[in-house]
Parts: sequence; C-alpha cells; structure tokens
Amino acid sequence: MTTAQVGVVIVGAGPAGLVLGNLLLDRGVDCVVGIVYVPVAGRTVEIFALPVPPGSPLETVAADERAAGHESHHAFAVTAPGRVIPAGLRTLLTERAGAVPDGGGYNKHENVTVLYFRTAHHRRFELRLPGRHDPVPDTTLSLLGVTTGAWATQAVRTMAELRIADHLAARPGLDADTLADHTGTDPDALRRLLRYLATLGLLTASADGTYHLTALGEPLHTGTEFSLHPLALLYGGPFYDSFAGLTYAVRTGQEAFAHRYGQHHFPYFAEHPELGDLFHRAMAASAEMFTPVPDLVDFSGVRRVVDVGGGNGALLGRVLRAHGHVEGVLLERPEALEAARSELADLTGRCTFAAGDFTESVPEGGDVYLLSRVLHDWDDERCVTILRRCAEAMREGSQLLVVERLLPGNKAAAWDVHMLCNVGGREREEAHYGRLLEGAGFRPTACYALPLGASLLHAVRG
Ligand SMILES: C[S@@+](CC[C@H](N)C(=O)[O-])C[C@H]1O[C@@H](n2cnc3c(N)ncnc32)[C@H](O)[C@@H]1O
Repeated sequence: MTTAQVGVVIVGAGPAGLVLGNLLLDRGVDCVVGIVYVPVAGRTVEIFALPVPPGSPLETVAADERAAGHESHHAFAVTAPGRVIPAGLRTLLTERAGAVPDGGGYNKHENVTVLYFRTAHHRRFELRLPGRHDPVPDTTLSLLGVTTGAWATQAVRTMAELRIADHLAARPGLDADTLADHTGTDPDALRRLLRYLATLGLLTASADGTYHLTALGEPLHTGTEFSLHPLALLYGGPFYDSFAGLTYAVRTGQEAFAHRYGQHHFPYFAEHPELGDLFHRAMAASAEMFTPVPDLVDFSGVRRVVDVGGGNGALLGRVLRAHGHVEGVLLERPEALEAARSELADLTGRCTFAAGDFTESVPEGGDVYLLSRVLHDWDDERCVTILRRCAEAMREGSQLLVVERLLPGNKAAAWDVHMLCNVGGREREEAHYGRLLEGAGFRPTACYALPLGASLLHAVRG
C-alpha cells in the first residue's frame, strides 16, 4: 500500500519548494510531488503531498516528520536579497524565541536555502532564503562549541593579561613578531593565539600578517569607558577556578567558591586587595546599566540618597551628578570604601562614606535608598534581613530602588548559575522580589527595564 506524506506550510510570500521532494531528486529517486498554493489573508498556505511507497527512502523521514508534528509549520520566506535580514531573522529565532537550528540546507533546484528551527515546545519554523546561505551549525557542532567554551574564556583572559587590545589600539596593524616583542611572548605561540582570537571575532588578521581590533575586541582596551578588561580577568581568573566546582555546588546547594578558596568571595577578596580592586572595576564595567536611573525616578523632592552596598559608587555618582541638590551616603564594607572615595572624588562635600554591615544597620534619614546588585548575592532569608534593616532606617513613604537582573531570560539564567556556584546567591523573578519586599514591609510600585538586561524595581516603605 502506498501512503502519502502530506504537509502544510504557511509562508509570508512567494513560491515555496519542497525539501523532502528535493531530497529524493538529489538521490536520483523519481517521485511525484503535488503542491497547492492557497492565498489566505496576505499569506500563502502551501499544501504538499507526495507518495511514500513501502521501502521508499522517504519512509523513515516521513515517520520522523509525523512523530514530531513537523508537517505543519510556519515558514518565513525572505524576498529581499542580501545577508542582513536573514541574519536578523536567525538572531530573532535563536536568541529571542529560544529556537535551536534543526537542519535544512541549500536547494539547488529552486536556488533557495531552507533552514529549520525548533523551539522548546517542538514548534518548527522554516526560513526560506533566496540563494545560497551558510547552514546554521547543527546541534552537534553547537554542543562542541559549548563544551569547549572554556577555551574561549581563557583565550580572552590571556588577551587581557597581555593587554593585546591596548597594543592594537595604540598601534593598529601590528604584526605578530612586534606584538610578541611588546608582550614578552613567544612569537609562534602568540601567532597561534591571535589566529584563534580572530576566529572568535575579537580581531582581524590581514593577509599581510598584521592584526586589527574589531568592535567586539574593542572593550578589552583598558582605556574605554566601560572596559571589559577587568571582567575578562575576574571571570577567567578566580571565578573561573571556582566554576570548576559547579557539580559540587549543584550536589550540595553550597557555593563552590568557598569550597575552593576556604571562604566567601567578599572576605577572601578583602584579604587579597588586588582581587578586591579587580572585583570593583569588574562591577563598574557594567555601570552603563545605571545610565537611565537618574531620569526614571522623580528626584525633585529628594534631599538624601543612601546607597546600600554601593560598591565603587558608580550608581550614586550618576544620581548626584544628575541632581545637584541631592546629597549622598554610601554604605560599604570598610575595604571597599577606598574605591568609592576615588570614584566620587569630584563630589566631596556632597557625599559621605559609612563603613558598616548592612545586615546590622543602615544609615537613617534618606529619602531614597539604593540596593543595586546586592540582593542577588544572598539567599532569601538574608535578603529579608537586609531589606528589614533598610525599612528600619527609612520613613514611611521613602523610596527603595532595587537594581537586579530578572529571570526569566537567557542571560539571567547564566548569571543565576554563576550566583549559585561562585557567590552563594541567586537571580530571581520580579514576583519573587515582590514577595521579599512585601515580607520586609515594602510596597512594590513599578519595574523598569535598564540596559544590559537589568531592571529597576521601585518600592515604597509602607
Ligand atoms: C555585587 S556588589 C554591587 C556593588 C554596587 N551596588 C553595584 O551595583 O555596582 C555587592 C556589594 O555589596 C557589598 N557588601 C557585601 N557584604 C556587605 C555587608 N555586609 N555590608 C555592606 N556591604 C556589603 C560588597 O562589598 C559589594 O561592593
């Protein structure tokens, strides 16, 4: 008996072909494919049918297609030439919709490239691109890429340690021998590292053997405003070492950093001031997320802002510089105050510094309290303690601004594992923060998106 493979594809516009049919043609198998196009409300529905006789090489393909429910899926037909729109659509599907590449390829009979994507719910999407396009790496290659991700982390760390970005920013177009001279490295080994860094997109290698920084590599230059240089050293250094203990953290629920270094990273960094300094500079690398904060909240009636666990003062500084009538208080661990004093040196007279422990007490008298990237360092119980200390210091109606990365979200999930393994804290959903805030006597009032995937939660002391 002959069965038929029947599929329905909805495309945005234009003609659609048939991958299964072309698969057969490629293998020299004769087949009859029936395709009907039906225009419906500005779209085209493609209904296709082809016979799948017993013993046909299509039998297993058809069975798989049916089992996964792939016969019916949405297809986006790109009609514009070029590579920009296909690249954007791929990014939308993979990074925004969380879809993973699921095969496809170039169809020479129609001169189109068909790329399939699969979502977590097994929905299939198809991209039909005119002409020949590179295939999306298949899942095996992606897994290999993920498995060897540590190589990239260490290559970037070495690039940072050797300050290759600084050398290339100062003198674009250096060759490997000159760079080896400047960095005190072995020329052959350096050339091999540079070749790898070029494949990572951090620099380009010209045919004449010279190297240039790319836009991706540029932030590793120490002179840029939000340089990622300290971040590359921190995440490729102590946090890299402790990340090797992730299985320990997952088995026990305990942070691996303390297991590896004998104590939590705050006291450990306090005993190793060069690491403490690196930590604060690494935090400042993402200070761009604070840029909108001074304009998101009405500071007109605010006299005093208290930054609780304010780090090097990057957020408090932005608020004070934007609102000249406001004075600030920064509460920190004693060893962190030096970094804050130097960052806020231009605000002497408007800013005071308090050494203390926010689990014990918080300075009183503020109209606005800031808790930026503090709560995610701690478990729920400790968070409520910190929030209660804030609430005790605040008047009814005083405002609390919490800056955090919120789950869900691809990036927040990765940071959450970092928090689990290296810090002993966690990233949370907005509702989770809402419960913690209410438990400590606050009324959550608003949530704003900030750059770099961060959010600002606004709450009022009830
Ligand atoms: C992740 S950093 C965030 C710094 C800053 N708020 C920011 O967003 O850039 C957390 C800060 O909490 C401070 N901290 C940790 N434990 C503390 C404590 N018990 N009392 C006061 N500050 C503390 C650390 O020194 C660190 O600077």
